[in-house]
Amino acid sequence: MTTHLHEVISRPTLETLQQHVSIRRYLPAPIAQPLLDDLLNAARRSPTSSNMQAYSLVVVQAAETRQRLAALAGDQKHIEQCPVFVAICADVARLHLAAGMHGTTLAQNLENSMVAVVDAALAGMSLATAAESVGLGTVMIGAMRNHPVEVAELLGLPAGVFVVYGLCLGYYEPERKPAQKPRLPAALIIHHERYQPADPAALAAHDAELAAHYRSEGRTTPDAAWTGVIAEKFSRPQRPHLRALLEKLGFRFD
Ligand SMILES: Cc1cc2nc3c(=O)[nH]c(=O)nc-3n(C[C@H](O)[C@H](O)[C@H](O)COP(=O)(O)O)c2cc1C
Repeated sequence: MTTHLHEVISRPTLETLQQHVSIRRYLPAPIAQPLLDDLLNAARRSPTSSNMQAYSLVVVQAAETRQRLAALAGDQKHIEQCPVFVAICADVARLHLAAGMHGTTLAQNLENSMVAVVDAALAGMSLATAAESVGLGTVMIGAMRNHPVEVAELLGLPAGVFVVYGLCLGYYEPERKPAQKPRLPAALIIHHERYQPADPAALAAHDAELAAHYRSEGRTTPDAAWTGVIAEKFSRPQRPHLRALLEKLGFRFD
């Protein structure tokens, strides 16, 4: 499969994952097509539920399409700036086709919609990790779900396909790589044998650490940089029309 990766310096996986930070400022340098092909083919090796491979990757390099996608994602300029944008799609269209070839129909429900979303998420993460391992920057774009029907039209997606998130890929100036964003403490995320409920004091400690990180970047932030944002933003339903729009695109959630 890989005939080109030996030509680029590839960091070991553990180091790549440990050094992750989202990149939102890209150089115009293109990604060589053989390298891009290797990254995409590596992503296609991702595990997939019941071997359904219920996802598709739409590789967008045309500047005009990226401009329109950026506008649909609330003017996220990095989508315009990166040389390659990959729409990571949940895809049950091929499952319909396969069923039809044998005179049956796909029984759609929440489960296979979730399978398609998980498959897409895994392949997209593999693509991101592969890209970062060869020195590219990445950022995932969930704002593809702001206007899912318009995005589907723009990319020519058939019924049964929607963009779960997008992925910007491109080179960046290493000296402008942002500082890593602090994560919640390991003890809150990693449980041994049995789940341990989170201690609010540990969340408050993370608030202080995250606020200090944002301030060091010159950003304004509430003192409760994590809990405060969760409490404020997510007390309102996000993308409340999403279910109806995704049903319009051929998915079921019942
Ligand atoms: C599914 C998903 C969707 C995201 N959507 C966006 C987005 O629309 N715009 C953006 O700038 N970052 C987006 N991000 C990046 C997150 O903001 C980022 O991963 C998080 O704040 C942690 O920062 P880090 O990746 O630099 O460590 C998304 C991340 C994920 C996993």
